[in-house]
Amino acid sequence: MKETMNILAIESSCDETAAAVIQNGRKVLSNIISSQIDIHTKFGGVVPEVASRAHVEVISNVVEEALSKADCSLEDIDAIAVTYGPGLVGALLVGIQYAKGLAYAVKKPLIGINHIEGHISANFIQYSDLKPPFVCLVVSGGHTYIVYMKDYGEFEIMGQTRDDAAGEAYDKIARAIGLGYPGGPKIDKLAKEGNPDAIRFPRANFHDPDTLDFSFSGLKSAVLNYLNQSEMKGIEINRADVAASFQKAVVGFLVDNSIRACKIKGVDKIAVAGGVASNSCLRQSFKEAGSQNGIDVLFPDSILCTDNAAMVGSAAYYEFMKGRTSSLNLNAVPNLKLGER
Ligand code: KG4
Ligand code: ZN
Repeated sequence: MKETMNILAIESSCDETAAAVIQNGRKVLSNIISSQIDIHTKFGGVVPEVASRAHVEVISNVVEEALSKADCSLEDIDAIAVTYGPGLVGALLVGIQYAKGLAYAVKKPLIGINHIEGHISANFIQYSDLKPPFVCLVVSGGHTYIVYMKDYGEFEIMGQTRDDAAGEAYDKIARAIGLGYPGGPKIDKLAKEGNPDAIRFPRANFHDPDTLDFSFSGLKSAVLNYLNQSEMKGIEINRADVAASFQKAVVGFLVDNSIRACKIKGVDKIAVAGGVASNSCLRQSFKEAGSQNGIDVLFPDSILCTDNAAMVGSAAYYEFMKGRTSSLNLNAVPNLKLGER
């Protein structure tokens, strides 16, 4: 095995076209992200076909820029990694076909990566000493999981959402109060001006009191009902109060279940990952709950929380170390589950 291993990683599962060069799973030599936010804003959300076309337009430039920023040529690259699921099928296929073509042309191994595993691995880049086992909360636009990472690439799902993902709930409520897409950062900002105790929104109740699962669709309905009823009664809506009260309900649910998961596993470390991990209220609440419970809470920098390819390169290094590579038949798996291969 070589002393240094450089992985060129590609990510195109949703609305970011990204490429990165990662050394030994931890060191970022480059991390290029081309966001489609401006394109999708006018539609109020990601339009899958538009996303695929936008990936096609920029992927060559993004990969070239990642190599040039890393001061690498393709000869310096030891393997090519790509996200193959979960995500939008057309968007995934753009990255996969590009990576396959490149791997074939330069005769380098191809490593297909699960996007959720990528999000978790962002913590390995941020914290160079971090090693499994630990508990991880993954909160993105499409997924909400509490995971016990036993070893690199080995996961036990302890809890997950039964309906909407946390980020999806943020995006839907943002749209309902007229904030637009993407909603998470906008609610985060507006909530700072609101009173989180102004409106009491309910938390989902499950029959099984020990479950670590989540549900956000009831909360979403409660907020929509509140907005409709206020409008019907002619009561002026304070959007900042709605944002802060909604956020308090989401964050409380996420933090409480995560702390319970750490206690169940007897671990004193939790890593948080995914786009919603950049939320300021979530970070603050976790910090407080962590110090009350003697649990170390880890958050990657915001740029590593939302979709990027550096996280994919980190996950790929540990897959490669375990001898797991993909064939050139690699295909997109839009509903790929964590831990599934
Ligand atoms: O991980 P990500 O970039 O893409 C997926 O894999 O889904 O996450 C995007 C999600 C969106 O729902 C966005 O609204 C949310 O992360 N998000 C936030 C914040 N920044 C991004 N949610 C709450 N607060 C934020 N600051
Ligand atoms: Zn993501």
